[in-house]
Amino acid sequence: MSLPYTSEMMESIKKVEAGRAARVNGPEPKRMTADEKTALLQAFHPDYNLDSFEEIKVGPNAGQKAPKELVEVLQGESRIKGMDLDLTKPDFDVDVLVIGGGGAGSSAAIEANEAGANVMIVTKLRIGDANTMMAEGGIQAADKENDSPAQHYLDVMGGGHYANVPELVEKLVCDGPSAINWLDKLGVLFDKDENGRMITTHGGGTSRKRMHAAADYSGAEIMRVLRDEVFNRKIPVVDFTAAIEIIKDTDGKAAGAVLMNMETKEILIARAKTVIIATGGAGRMHYQGFPTSNHYGATADGLVLAYRAGAPLLYQDTLQYHPTGVAFPAQIYGALVTEKVRSMGAMFVNKDGEVFMHPLETRDVAASGIIRECKERGKGVQTPQAEGIWLDTPMIDMIHGEGTLEKRLPGMLRMYLRCGIDMREVPIVIYPTLHYQNGGIKIGANGMSEVENLYVAGEAVGGIHGRNRLMGNSLLDIIVFGRNAGQQAGAKCKEVELKELTVSHVDDFSKMLADAGIKTEVVSPKLLPDYRPEGVTRLN
Ligand code: FUM
Repeated sequence: MSLPYTSEMMESIKKVEAGRAARVNGPEPKRMTADEKTALLQAFHPDYNLDSFEEIKVGPNAGQKAPKELVEVLQGESRIKGMDLDLTKPDFDVDVLVIGGGGAGSSAAIEANEAGANVMIVTKLRIGDANTMMAEGGIQAADKENDSPAQHYLDVMGGGHYANVPELVEKLVCDGPSAINWLDKLGVLFDKDENGRMITTHGGGTSRKRMHAAADYSGAEIMRVLRDEVFNRKIPVVDFTAAIEIIKDTDGKAAGAVLMNMETKEILIARAKTVIIATGGAGRMHYQGFPTSNHYGATADGLVLAYRAGAPLLYQDTLQYHPTGVAFPAQIYGALVTEKVRSMGAMFVNKDGEVFMHPLETRDVAASGIIRECKERGKGVQTPQAEGIWLDTPMIDMIHGEGTLEKRLPGMLRMYLRCGIDMREVPIVIYPTLHYQNGGIKIGANGMSEVENLYVAGEAVGGIHGRNRLMGNSLLDIIVFGRNAGQQAGAKCKEVELKELTVSHVDDFSKMLADAGIKTEVVSPKLLPDYRPEGVTRLN
């Protein structure tokens, strides 16, 4: 197979190659000052592109802004509108209902089961169809001698622009080492050296090497083990069944969910003493038209369910655009090129062969730098798919020795080889891709939202990462806050006495929309992205 790069790209590669040895042997590129970063973010980060945001008109966050696409679904009509539901004869009756079958949901279910609760997972696709499965580079935890949770705390706060909720960060970093230990004992095959010690590397914005990994498929490896554990414990998993509304009891506490079979559209009722939302992220909302590294079901469903039930959101206006999404070739457009590629030494290089920033600035800064290089400075590499800049991957073997890239980044290598590109020999073209929902549902340190007995874990939570998450803290948060939600909900359910079930809050929300003069054809939660060409009608 011949290299699919154009002759113009090949000409540019000559300039990249000319400076490679100097880059490998020379000093690190300069870091930006705080003022430089602020100016860069304000000018180029998509979160500052005010045209793509809108004011939320109803509900707990009324008056605040959110991406237009999110406002549309938050203020959409309920899927149960006009339905006559019999809530007195539930199809499922459990102690703990977990909505979502990714890493956070699975961790929660395992801990709730461990606490002796009767727990069930419902998931609109299959268990493991989640962003956890797509996570590549690793999971942070301060468990080495030269590190500490306090050091980790400072990095997380700095990366999040000090907007993070301090008690959530404290929990994240203090429970980090035990999260790794838990996964290790469950059977996750982390990368270890010949003495059996975990191999750890840097990520953007980390002051210590604390990224634990399983090659470049860390999330898939973690999900493999969590899924096995769920199955081994015989925790019931209801696949292809989406939660479409939270049910409350007449005291206003969460008490279950209305479910919809994704194939037959059959409506089912689940009664539960406690409910955990672990529905993941929102990449498939394609905010501002960005491609995404997210799995097919990442459509912000949990935010819609919780919001209609009265739970406030936090930082719903901040998204993470991973600096290194695939810009070319077309068949993997938007897919993730793990940050680990840069932590192993690959640098950003523009079309003229110039390094324009340090490769391990935090993600928001790195993404903004790439956008500026292309949009303002005209130094982007034009490909047949999209503009981007070079990530000089052949540097990795030059720095660490031949065979390193194949050993440490086998998934990346294979993904590109299938498209005829050997990243050991030639650089690859990248551009920011929509990767993570920094904001989400507001929780306290016990994992509960502001709706009693409604817990949240994983990417659906807002506040842990402030306004920008560091690499590897998402895999950590799904374990720490997934386990926490499972333990808390598993304990709380023992004291819950459910009253009569109701969905009157859904009618109330609908009335608020009408009172605010909002007429909408949008039905939410969205559940799946719609990629059909314009003009083709969707059968809901
Ligand atoms: O770059 C990555 O491997 C992504 C990791 C993360 O989002 O934590």
